[in-house]
Amino acid sequence: MNVLVIGSGGREHAIAWKLAMSPKVDAVFVAPGNGGTALEKKCENALAGVDPETEAGQMILADFAEKAGVAFSVVGPEAPLAAGIVAAFHRRSLAIVGPDKRAARLEASKAFSKAFMAKYGVRAAASREFAGGGAGFEDALRHVKTHFSQTNQPIVIKADGLAAGKGVVIANYFMEAESCLRSFMKDGVIGDAGRAVVIEDFLRGKEVSVLAAVSVRNGEGVIAPFIPARDHKRRFDNDEGPNTGGMGAIAPVPDFTEAAQADFRSSILEPTLEGLKAENVDYRGFIFFGLMVQDGRCHLLEYNVRLGDPETQAILPLLDSDFADVCAAILNGSLTENRLVWKRGAVCAPVAVADGYPGPYRKGDCVTVNGAAPNGGELSPGVKLFGAGVRLQDGDSFTSGGRALAVSAYAADAESARSAAYRALESVRFEGMGFRKDIGR
Ligand code: AMP
Ligand code: GLY
Repeated sequence: MNVLVIGSGGREHAIAWKLAMSPKVDAVFVAPGNGGTALEKKCENALAGVDPETEAGQMILADFAEKAGVAFSVVGPEAPLAAGIVAAFHRRSLAIVGPDKRAARLEASKAFSKAFMAKYGVRAAASREFAGGGAGFEDALRHVKTHFSQTNQPIVIKADGLAAGKGVVIANYFMEAESCLRSFMKDGVIGDAGRAVVIEDFLRGKEVSVLAAVSVRNGEGVIAPFIPARDHKRRFDNDEGPNTGGMGAIAPVPDFTEAAQADFRSSILEPTLEGLKAENVDYRGFIFFGLMVQDGRCHLLEYNVRLGDPETQAILPLLDSDFADVCAAILNGSLTENRLVWKRGAVCAPVAVADGYPGPYRKGDCVTVNGAAPNGGELSPGVKLFGAGVRLQDGDSFTSGGRALAVSAYAADAESARSAAYRALESVRFEGMGFRKDIGR
């Protein structure tokens, strides 16, 4: 069969790579893909410049899927899902892995997702929603003023809409909260996404990402969780510096105990499943639970309606099952947890970023592996290079994005995976390359 992957990041490279491993898959088209997928076995980049967030772009993608005879398409990022790509494909009777637009609001609107959590009893921080407009701003301001007059705990301000990682601010003082509210709600610094906000209690603990396959339709279905992972969001070692899209991931997570996992199931996964069934959405795709865990107790920070980046680059190498079969099971309703078979061992996947990232960064630097152009294979047994912000030109790879690539090393245990990843990263070079040295430490 042929399949189509929509997206251009490291996550999409990992998805395409895993699908290409299936003996049932002949070709993986990646639209638009990146310099990594361009070199991947059985993979072919397609449709550069087509915008999957517009109706016109979705038509072009659907035309392509039809002509290429793809068995199904997999959507990587959230924005096309929020823009209704699933319905556009369904109208053409094309199979697509991803939630419908209504379910995609679990990520696209913080207010919607907080209301869903409250309605179905999913454990999360207490919160209040403030609508856009002058009155909403004044109310929000009063709310944070009262908060800081009663306690010295920080407070968390979340833009309602999709803000590419710039929508959450943790304010330690009233002045910080006020300036954030003003910039989001009044000045529109993150556009319409920040006109309305959710303000919630600050939670302490350690973050864990649980990604899962979801197959819910007509009020029936399952959520099958993957091996847990942990992203490292701050730019510098020891969790210092600004937030980024993710500087590296590990899987599994040693401190996410069995007791905490059981708590996650009963307090978060099960009520979420009940909610999806009750809301009668068509959710055949992936979900990502962003958790805060303290003393074995989990709170849900957020849902994403897609796989995580870079978590996917750490998780998929541990999947022993045929990923094309998993996608087929999601689509045809035969998904069960037993469908997901995991390897023993661990993965460490540090990300290499361009100089300046997450601010304005360098581009166009030549990427080499042991002094030569990357060839798309394994760097060494169990060690894979996933491209993200890289493009291929005349056989050479050049940086084109802030998070350029990830090295994903699979080994028998976490420490061996860590040393294998960092040994391999030493062979990778580009001018201005930066990375964290403490992923998984
Ligand atoms: P979100 O997009 O909601 O996951 O928020 C982005 C990041 O902000 C999370 O990964 C956490 O690091 C942090 N965060 C969000 N909500 C809270 C909270 N209630 N308490 C503490 N940290 C939070
Ligand atoms: N790694 C965080 C995310 O994918 O949103």
